[in-house]
Amino acid sequence: MSADRRAVARPPRFVASRGFRIVFIVLLVVCAAQIAYWVWDEVRYTTATRDRRAEVLVTEAMAATALREWLPADRVAPLFPRISVPETGWVSVRPEVLAALNEEARRRVNRFLWEGGFFLVVLCAGMVILNRALRQEARLRRQEENFLASVSHELKSPLASIRLSAETLADGAPDPERRGRLTGRLLDDVQRLETMVSNLLDAGRVEERGASRAREPVALSDAVRGVLAELAPQLEARGATVRTELDERASILADPEGVRAVVRNLLDNARKAIARSPDGSIDVRVASESGRVSLVVRDDGVGFSPEEGRRLFEKFYRPGDELRRSGSGSGLGLYLVRRHVEREGGSVRAASDGDGGGAEFRVEWPAAAAEGDA
Ligand SMILES: Nc1ncnc2c1ncn2[C@@H]1O[C@H](COP(=O)(O)OP(=O)(O)OP(=O)(O)O)[C@@H](O)[C@H]1O
Ligand SMILES: [Mg+2]
Repeated sequence: MSADRRAVARPPRFVASRGFRIVFIVLLVVCAAQIAYWVWDEVRYTTATRDRRAEVLVTEAMAATALREWLPADRVAPLFPRISVPETGWVSVRPEVLAALNEEARRRVNRFLWEGGFFLVVLCAGMVILNRALRQEARLRRQEENFLASVSHELKSPLASIRLSAETLADGAPDPERRGRLTGRLLDDVQRLETMVSNLLDAGRVEERGASRAREPVALSDAVRGVLAELAPQLEARGATVRTELDERASILADPEGVRAVVRNLLDNARKAIARSPDGSIDVRVASESGRVSLVVRDDGVGFSPEEGRRLFEKFYRPGDELRRSGSGSGLGLYLVRRHVEREGGSVRAASDGDGGGAEFRVEWPAAAAEGDA
């Protein structure tokens, strides 16, 4: 390989540690406080100087009044150019002198307020941006840790279980009932691995900019039936009740694989949400009205809190941390749901009555006919 084409990897020269960044933010706060103090001090100094100069003028006016007792006004006036000295009546400071004094003070105060205000705004904006970046980075780090922990767990545990089931089957033919159970578990584990791998591959695909995708009319009810058939063994094993209300006219113009990923992830989540309750149920409704096609998946499972609800569609987000979580998953499912739905011009919402109160996920797409007409 020629010298100029050789790839050279170097570690980054400077990586600001967390402590360093916190010190930097503290320094920015000190700078902001100093600027505020500087503005306040300059404004105070300017007004005090103006008042002192006004006092000097008043003293000059008093001196001119005293001198006018002894000398004619036209001899006193040249001695006090800033004072108006009439022959009779009040000796006073010339109005234009007072106006100039006030104007100068006003201009200085304005300048300091604008300059100081500008610096303060820039500093505060910098602090807010830096603070957000820090929090975002901390969140990404947490998500990455959660993701790595859950992915390794998600890969290792079905593999270990597959090995155990396969070894037991290989050791001799157990009774038919046990063999059936082991085969069922094998299929479950393979399904879990398949979901994981297809979600990981799908995540790579939805992020490819400008990636082409085949859009064609998709019958949503057929997609739901297909996914339900795939999940049937797991749902039946848990005694879950699944009620469906499928409008056969509901058709959307979309990437069929993306639609299946949406349905599969929502149903898989509902299945996991009711996994602990012996008589859990899932309602799936497909409807088509006013140019929109909707898919609603409702379950009476564990539900989620409002704070969790706001973040469910983030990449790799799973409530709690890896040590406290019992369910399987990598936190990619709902992120993929959102990406696929938004790519087709649709929207997705989640609602729950809180922990233990079940959950409802509602997806809406433009109907195929409506889009074709457009
Ligand atoms: N129907 C639901 N009821 C209660 N909580 C839910 C429901 N669906 C999703 N969640 C919560 O949202 C989290 C994120 O869901 P998501 O589908 O993105 O990831 P996952 O199911 O944990 O993993 P993956 O889908 O990648 O296997 C879940 O871990 C779960 O805590
Ligand atoms: Mg999921």
